[in-house]
Amino acid sequence: MADAIAIYIVNAEELQTDHPDSTAWCQASCFSGQVGKTCLVPDATGKLSKVLVGRPDSLDTWTLAGLPKTLPTGTYRLGSTLSASSATKLYLGWQLGSYSFDRYKLTKTGPLANLEIPDNIDLTYVKAATEATYLVRDLITTPSNNMGPDQLEETARSLADRYDAKIQVIAGGDLVIENYPMIYAVGKASTRAPRLIDLRWGNPDAPKVTLVGKGVCFDSGGLDVKSATGMRLMKKDMGGAAQVLGLAQMIMEIGLPINLRVLVAAVENSIAGNALRPLDILTSRKGTTIEVGNTDAEGRLVLADALWEASSEEPDLIIDCATLTGAARVALGTELPAFFCNHNEITSALLKTGLDLDDPLWNLPLHDAYRTMLDSPVADMNNIASGSYGGSITAALFLQEFIQADIPWIHVDFMAYNLRSLPGRPEGGEAMGMRALFELIKKHIA
Ligand code: BES
Ligand code: ZN
Ligand code: ZN
Repeated sequence: MADAIAIYIVNAEELQTDHPDSTAWCQASCFSGQVGKTCLVPDATGKLSKVLVGRPDSLDTWTLAGLPKTLPTGTYRLGSTLSASSATKLYLGWQLGSYSFDRYKLTKTGPLANLEIPDNIDLTYVKAATEATYLVRDLITTPSNNMGPDQLEETARSLADRYDAKIQVIAGGDLVIENYPMIYAVGKASTRAPRLIDLRWGNPDAPKVTLVGKGVCFDSGGLDVKSATGMRLMKKDMGGAAQVLGLAQMIMEIGLPINLRVLVAAVENSIAGNALRPLDILTSRKGTTIEVGNTDAEGRLVLADALWEASSEEPDLIIDCATLTGAARVALGTELPAFFCNHNEITSALLKTGLDLDDPLWNLPLHDAYRTMLDSPVADMNNIASGSYGGSITAALFLQEFIQADIPWIHVDFMAYNLRSLPGRPEGGEAMGMRALFELIKKHIA
């Protein structure tokens, strides 16, 4: 087998000192170590001899992530000497950049450029993070006709099998019997039965973390129907469920010493004669009444019942992930998830961890004064706010009503979808903040 081709990460100075033999070629190729640029250097016979990559200020996860799909097929190695943590990041980026979604393509993606495993990296971590990210992407990108509540259940069941976890599913009319009225109400108009998926794993005596996911497999808006453009991407409205399943897979694969519970509210927000109507009044699992100001604010309804159940066991931490509001995207754009948290130390830790891992999230306030915007003249609360500003905050305040006061809680409101391709992050379904959440649990809870 041919020797692996070395990849060197260089700035202008290193290019001069370490690669003097390549000066003329680099000049002819307009490469001087610019960030984001790559130079393929041939030997005297014209064969590729090495790859030079512009050195960013700090080596982040994405430094080499564009290469698997742009370099000629073959085997490469890291030529530069790097710390174990940088090499781990770069190798992870390479793996994340090697993803393709080709389930529906007759012609599958051919072999890509391959990177030899660098020395001293945390390979277990990279493998777990890669596999979990691929799972999340696959689940979200798969269209709704092949990704309903039943397929989310199937996914959770296969995770339970693989990691010897316990799983219980409450579906259809049983949701009413078992007192999950709002999950039932949102999902009842679909031919695909709504359900609550409940997975448990780990040591019952260890610190308890409960993950809750919004699994709206398609959000038509319900009777308050979305516009065609608003509805187009709504196969991704189960992104929160996908992300908590991915996070759970990472936790179980690595074997974090925690007591894990995952609750996924899996429904389809459909339109039919029996659909939830505007101004219907529901009684929540908690017992409070909710007036449905808008059937398109369905995510908070299904999450409310799941969060109340999560709270009942008083875990050490509750994390919910949800493609909850367009407003969070207006505030932060599609590539930066918003998070809300009722605990200051956890807030700072998650902010920092996200930045450290190139998996950033940004915190928005649980601004109490807006709580009255959710008042209803006829019920205990409305599911939409009276004004149209601050929609991600009022949605978070709605959810907070279903968290028992002193339980630390993180709510992630995110896009779950790359609208554009960036190195290592192809257009399509995406985990966002998952690696940061994993690290937070590992460092602060486990
Ligand atoms: N799934 C949507 C939120 C969404 C839309 C997330 C686009 C990301 C991109 C959610 O169920 C929804 O429709 N929310 C409404 C709430 C409104 C009716 C108060 C929204 O954000 O417009
Ligand atoms: Zn909606
Ligand atoms: Zn939704």
